[in-house]
Amino acid sequence: MSLQLGRTSFGNAANAGNVLTRDAAMQLFNSWVLNPKLQLHMLQVGHLMRCWAAEHEMLDDAAQWRWEMAGLLHDADWDQWPTEHCRKIIEELESRNIDPEIIRAIASHGHVYFGVEPVTRMDKMLYAFDELSGLIHAYALMRPNRYEAMDVKGVKKRLKEKTFAANVSREDIADACTRAGIVLDDLIAFIIAKQATV
Ligand SMILES: [Fe+2]
Ligand SMILES: [Fe+2]
Repeated sequence: MSLQLGRTSFGNAANAGNVLTRDAAMQLFNSWVLNPKLQLHMLQVGHLMRCWAAEHEMLDDAAQWRWEMAGLLHDADWDQWPTEHCRKIIEELESRNIDPEIIRAIASHGHVYFGVEPVTRMDKMLYAFDELSGLIHAYALMRPNRYEAMDVKGVKKRLKEKTFAANVSREDIADACTRAGIVLDDLIAFIIAKQATV
């Protein structure tokens, strides 16, 4: 599924700092996303974004929520309007005068599909977490102890098996690490450690 957004500017700079409250974000999340698997994916990515903002970007609580909100809502329209992904959620957040940083990050989470390059740290980390966290979760589901004692080596083995979680783009994962300036092993280790706690 591919929808080129045909623009590279999102939201209004005057809305910088505007966010949804957690309650309002969860209300949107729950009314738009009915598939529990997709809900879990979005919760996981939101959690990873918050943890990364806190621990690696040293951002304050308000910024951590902006990062989390981008992750939490990045696939909000995928469940009910897949052919409009991610234009619909972008337009919804624009109509609610949300911080353009958040909207831009959502618009660039699949640059090949949406035609928007990841530029900011938030953009790049959302892109980096999206596919890789999905593959690691698929791996956890086939392990009796899920994330417990999972190691980086095991994940890398699955990455090399093209038939495992075949819809996860290995190219996107490698590209995302390069863009974010992160070593793949470090990103895998971070995801294992944080995803186990969602
Ligand atoms: Fe998506
Ligand atoms: Fe996603």
